[in-house]
Amino acid sequence: MKILVTGGTGYIGSHTVVELQNKGFEVIIVDNLSNSSIEVLDNIARITGKKPLFEKFDLTDPGKTEDFFQLHNDISAVVHFAAFKAVGESVHFPLMYYRNNLVSLINILQEMINNGIRDVVFSSSCTVYGQPEKLPAREETPIQKANSPYGNTKQISEEIITETSENENIRAILLRYFNPIGAHESAMIGELPLGIPNNLMPYITQTAIGKRDFLRVWGNDYRTPDGTAIRDYIHVVDLAKAHVVAVERMIANKGKKKIETFNLGTGKGASVMEVIQSFERSTGIQLNYKILDRRPGDVEKVWADTSFANQELGWKAEKSLDEMTYSAWKWEKALAAKAEHEKKQGN
Ligand code: UFG
Repeated sequence: MKILVTGGTGYIGSHTVVELQNKGFEVIIVDNLSNSSIEVLDNIARITGKKPLFEKFDLTDPGKTEDFFQLHNDISAVVHFAAFKAVGESVHFPLMYYRNNLVSLINILQEMINNGIRDVVFSSSCTVYGQPEKLPAREETPIQKANSPYGNTKQISEEIITETSENENIRAILLRYFNPIGAHESAMIGELPLGIPNNLMPYITQTAIGKRDFLRVWGNDYRTPDGTAIRDYIHVVDLAKAHVVAVERMIANKGKKKIETFNLGTGKGASVMEVIQSFERSTGIQLNYKILDRRPGDVEKVWADTSFANQELGWKAEKSLDEMTYSAWKWEKALAAKAEHEKKQGN
């Protein structure tokens, strides 16, 4: 069966393509490479023995999207990752975020309808819960007003999909990710942040490798045991596997509703200090860090109730925090080795 993976050369997308191919699915990727590299295709092939099909274009272009779906008329389901994802950038360029994230979704849904494709798995985020009053966050936890245009695109996307499914032959699984970190154990694919990373894990590994002087820990006066903010970090490979289960569930008609929503996390929160300690333990490296003031817009603590995903999907995150931090470090070292090799070749 052929699965369309939009954004399949990106961080979570590439890991999902690997897991889909490992399960025997044929994958076609659409990506405009605005935040990823074409080399990812060869690296996926090195891991799985098969290079996925690939088309480079921008899904915000309705004509190109229409042509693509007409040409590839054997797609069984869609996994839609393609989107901008930087919270801070979205505050500066809201229209860019709304146009990119929403227009691409609208075009995909329209072509799914036109071509009789029913099933879509959508990348959503725990950002829809904001700071929940009660923890852990359940799927029924009230959605709060988004605190960034990025977060708002996730909320609006969930609504667009849900409302479309009411009158069209469209079904969806909405996956609300907590904090994905880590990389494939082969260290052939991983996160490739552009410029200075905003997220904790790549900032830690870039500090350890010497690209950054020190990690800024944003606040240690939260109401948490060690004062630093708590998140539910999940290994990207565990997350990718959940997408395969979601695709299989839809194709096998096992869904119970047209729209199903699942939290994807480990169910365990870790503070910023605990992530640093895990990194130091798993790699044996002492990390340079300084405590600074809180970062505006950050929530204090959030972690998932994953019981619904565990029971309904029969899926559970298996990898430990130490495995996450160690795999992220292995990936950072692989990137450094590649950069060194390229530098030597250039000389
Ligand atoms: N942090 C630091 N220093 C850094 C970077 C992060 O202390 O240099 C802290 C943050 O303050 C936060 C934690 O590490 O407490 C995690 O921060 P990330 O930026 O890695 O992740 P966020 O939880 O802020 O954001 C993530 C995704 C968003 C998504 C959001 C939903 O990156 O896409 O979760 O909560 F919207």
